[in-house]
Amino acid sequence: MPDFALPPEAALGIERKWWHTATVYQIYPRSFRDSNGDGIGDLPGIIDRLDYLQALGVAVIWLSPIYASPMDDNGYDISDYQAIAPEFGTLADFDRLVAQARQRGMGIILDLVVNHTSDEHPWFTQARRSKDNAYRDFYVWRPPAPDGGPPNDLTSSFGGPAWTFDSTTQEYYLHLFSRRQPDLNWENPRVRDEIYRMMNWWLDRGIAGFRMDVIDLIGKKVDEGITADGPHLHDYLQEMNRRTFGSRDILTVGEAWSATPGSALLYSGRDRKELSMVFQFEHVTQGWDEVHGKWRPKPIDLVKLKSVLGKWQHALAEDGWNSLFWGNHDLPRAVSRYGDASGYHVESAKMLATVLHLMKGTPFIYQGEEIGMTNVPFARIEQYRDVETLNMHRLHVEAGLSPEEFLRGANQSGRDNARTPMQWSTAPHGGFTTGSPWIEVNPNYPTLNAENQVNDERSIWSHYRKLIALRKEHAVVVYGTFQSWFDQHPEVFVYTRTLDHQQLLVVANFVPREVALTLPGELQLSGHCLISNYSPPHELGEELHLRPYEAFALLCAPPA
Ligand code: NOJ
Repeated sequence: MPDFALPPEAALGIERKWWHTATVYQIYPRSFRDSNGDGIGDLPGIIDRLDYLQALGVAVIWLSPIYASPMDDNGYDISDYQAIAPEFGTLADFDRLVAQARQRGMGIILDLVVNHTSDEHPWFTQARRSKDNAYRDFYVWRPPAPDGGPPNDLTSSFGGPAWTFDSTTQEYYLHLFSRRQPDLNWENPRVRDEIYRMMNWWLDRGIAGFRMDVIDLIGKKVDEGITADGPHLHDYLQEMNRRTFGSRDILTVGEAWSATPGSALLYSGRDRKELSMVFQFEHVTQGWDEVHGKWRPKPIDLVKLKSVLGKWQHALAEDGWNSLFWGNHDLPRAVSRYGDASGYHVESAKMLATVLHLMKGTPFIYQGEEIGMTNVPFARIEQYRDVETLNMHRLHVEAGLSPEEFLRGANQSGRDNARTPMQWSTAPHGGFTTGSPWIEVNPNYPTLNAENQVNDERSIWSHYRKLIALRKEHAVVVYGTFQSWFDQHPEVFVYTRTLDHQQLLVVANFVPREVALTLPGELQLSGHCLISNYSPPHELGEELHLRPYEAFALLCAPPA
């Protein structure tokens, strides 16, 4: 709970929750820290770095999947929901992780992947045996179309049809991701019973919540071509809430690529009894190409980006709650996408952190972001490991795209940008492993690593630490009303947050050059600078001369 005195709940309009002041740190276990030299990160490796995370100040650690899995999609294909993948450790390691995190004031949240399982899950190996198997209806099967082809045109997010023919029973099964990730049939109450039982089993082990993988897909109606946001989605979430975590004080965040401000209020509204918040991706997808999507990202259009971020701040101002993030294990590195990974690396990484962490919502940091890790410069497709990138490479090259052009897109948007090992030190492979890493380390680790930054007050890491602390110290950061300024300005992002007698002014320059800005009277405030990425910080006056990627936040009393 925060140290500051909060205004009464009635004044806030929402019930206070512990996760309003928390910052979450996402770990991709495979790439975080390898303790046994097999080249794959593991749970003992995470335990080993809990002090690092505590020093940063995060309250919650989200683990990408750690369960038993053939790892077709690095664990998002689960073959046993109640076992730990041997390469990651044991259940005893997990219990130790929960206990040791708790001793340091941190909670662990797990990735709940229940839209689909692995094709090696016993439910699926049973289901595919015969049409009358007791587990057949755990999955989505359909007879072939009259021409023998797939039942309909649904496509997989990883390319190609969403249906694979199974010769044993002469039917197709649905997979919205790889063919090794068959979709569960949520219309079957036995499926839901099993999932809730499994969730309670993990909750009883003391976890602090769940991140729910592609949760907007569980209400699908495939015969009507509906995948996201299906008719029973919210019924299922309310049922899940009632039968699992509803009585516990945990954090739940649903991944919902389809979320709109309207549906986000259904997921996270105060009286809905569904989730704490969702991840929505509008700020991500607004930068994608209309035809080629993320494989040909557009340059950042700040006016658009601000309008999307602002829209969500307003939409969930009175009810519901926002998540705040630039990156995750599926997205490019934040500083490479939105900042300047070369010329103004430190300045732009800090600027991005400043504007994100001072908005209203719960911030999520993706591992390595706190030291400004960058996209990979892989020159050959063989260096990639990601199932999506490899599938898409094959499909695009077959369709006539040159391999060089595909690589350009993959270098900008491929998921492995986020999955190269955490850069701990100048030791070989960035100190991630003493063995041979499952994917190459970014070659910039000798200069870009955590060891260089944790004891340097001017580092990106220290800037993140300060921002996380500010959220715990100032109610205005948590609950202040958001208002943006200079909406049509293509180079600066300016917003205020207001709570009672306090006002926070955040000013950020998104370009690698100086920008002059004349502040309107209302913003010519005096106050003290909470954080800045330049030293000495900006002198405030009517005319601002912002330095490249300069960002600062000022705490002031509003004008009378
Ligand atoms: C979303 C996850 O974030 C991604 O990594 C995964 O491949 C798909 N869901 C399928 O589980």
